[in-house]
Amino acid sequence: MRLLIFVVVLLNIINYVYGLTLAQLTTQINARGGKVIPQADGPNFNNARFGYNYRYNRIPTVIIQPSDTASVQLVLEYAQTNNLKVSIKSGGHSSISEGVMDNRVTIDLSQMKQISYDNVTRIITTQSGNKWVEFYDYTINQHGVATPGGSCPSVSIGGLTLGGGANDLSTLYGLATDNVVEMEVVLANRTIVTASETENSDLFWALRGGGHGGFGVVTQFKFKAYQVQPVYYSAWITWAWSDFEAVLTYVNQFSQFMPNSVNLYFTAWRSKDAATPSVALSCFYNGNKDDAEQFCGRFRSIPNVVTPPEFQVTNTSYYNTVKGGTDPKARQSYTKGGFLTDITKQTVRRIKTAMESSPLTPYSYNTARLNLYWQGGAMLEKSRGYNAYPHRSYPWNAVWLTSFVGSEFDEMYNKWITKTYRQMNTFSQGVYQNYPDDTLENWADEYYMENYPLLKGG
Ligand SMILES: Cc1cc2nc3c(=O)[nH]c(=O)nc-3n(C[C@H](O)[C@H](O)[C@H](O)COP(=O)(O)OP(=O)(O)OC[C@H]3O[C@@H](n4cnc5c(N)ncnc54)[C@H](O)[C@@H]3O)c2cc1C
Ligand SMILES: *[C@@H]1O[C@H](CO)[C@@H](O)[C@H](O)[C@H]1NC(C)=O
Ligand SMILES: *[C@@H]1O[C@H](CO)[C@@H](O)[C@H](O)[C@H]1NC(C)=O
Ligand SMILES: *[C@@H]1O[C@H](CO)[C@@H](O)[C@H](O)[C@H]1NC(C)=O
Repeated sequence: MRLLIFVVVLLNIINYVYGLTLAQLTTQINARGGKVIPQADGPNFNNARFGYNYRYNRIPTVIIQPSDTASVQLVLEYAQTNNLKVSIKSGGHSSISEGVMDNRVTIDLSQMKQISYDNVTRIITTQSGNKWVEFYDYTINQHGVATPGGSCPSVSIGGLTLGGGANDLSTLYGLATDNVVEMEVVLANRTIVTASETENSDLFWALRGGGHGGFGVVTQFKFKAYQVQPVYYSAWITWAWSDFEAVLTYVNQFSQFMPNSVNLYFTAWRSKDAATPSVALSCFYNGNKDDAEQFCGRFRSIPNVVTPPEFQVTNTSYYNTVKGGTDPKARQSYTKGGFLTDITKQTVRRIKTAMESSPLTPYSYNTARLNLYWQGGAMLEKSRGYNAYPHRSYPWNAVWLTSFVGSEFDEMYNKWITKTYRQMNTFSQGVYQNYPDDTLENWADEYYMENYPLLKGG
């Protein structure tokens, strides 16, 4: 015991004498092409500390934008020798702003954007800071290849991949994280390691689905690449609200028999003083364009629907699809969700009632929404313990989302989403860790389920 105290004291003295000051760190980070953004740098500091959800107004001690992996090691050295904790940010889209924490050093990876493609091994190598629109601009527009990732432009590689990651390409090729073959990781003790099936395979297992958990800073990812088509068929179909129940019932039936080449995204929303909510479906087809109508075309006329829908087809490159995805700016939001165990008559009715009781405000940019993301097909074809991502049993990921500007709307949106979630929760199992919720009591079970004990090191 005495020896231990002696060692701890000695280490503290060494750190105190040899520790990095912020000025020293700044010189070294700048020399390597990175940036240190102190609190005093008002506008830049504010710009870098806010992410997607403006409901979180966190003040880190300092924000550091490293340019390379060695700089990440330096930031960790600075934090540790000054007794500071760190948080890691890539694209800042965490629904609860987990990349930026009060009184911590933010490691902001957004400037680390190196990317390359090896057309012999068919592997894409990218640093964590690329946004998906930048990633696809490189892989699709320059090399005609892609891997499953995000469907919106400003979300980044890092957070999305470490929590799973699904878009229209995932029904055929799996989650983003299932397509990672190797990662470069800076551990807490500043050692740089490779994580793959053959090197540090336990870390590799944990990072794929459990990567938000503080196992290290992932600086680089290697992904499997797939040839993409020049254009893909995608239908956007909108119905009258009065047909909501018939539509969702049919969408669910259809989903149980559709091939993996089809992906669905169903959404209902209300904003401003709309008399009724709106309902729409995206039907994406990854295959021969002429076959697409055979499946998505069924939604042109479905049983029990009274009013014919509006049916819009686009045939465009997947890069354009992601570029045109939603890019919400400066919005306050609440996100709550879960994988539905079934879409029964009762579920359909509850969703309808919840949407009809959602708050109304005078502004069209304030919205309440339910998104049903299809996370089936190849995404369910791995076992629940294949990696740390356990949500392999139920394909419909239901995400309730409110998006608003102005704290005066906070309470009513919070009330509505909390009540709705509580009612829907009886029909769901597990929460997608890429839509985290800081009001969950049993978050570990919800995000990681039976994989949690192993993640904890048990
Ligand atoms: C508009 C919008 C669209 C979305 N679209 C999709 C979608 O199509 N498909 C989908 O699956 N999800 C989607 N999401 C959810 C998205 O996957 C998560 O928000 C994701 O975590 C964001 O990653 P980020 O790097 O942008 O965010 P950040 O907030 O920077 O990071 C999120 C989490 O990952 C950690 N982290 C980030 N980078 C690293 C790293 N390199 N090493 C270690 N930890 C790291 C952070 O600490 C934090 O806990 C969307 C979210 C939004 C807001
Ligand atoms: C692979 O890349 C090299 C170098 O960029 C290029 O010369 C070659 O044509 C490419 N091969 C294929 C099959 O695309
Ligand atoms: C850092 O931690 C890893 C994992 O625990 C360990 O294998 C490695 O030896 C450590 N490196 C140093 C320099 O302590
Ligand atoms: C897209 O392709 C489908 C199927 O080939 C076709 O029916 C449709 O007219 C095309 N739409 C556009 C906008 O090109």
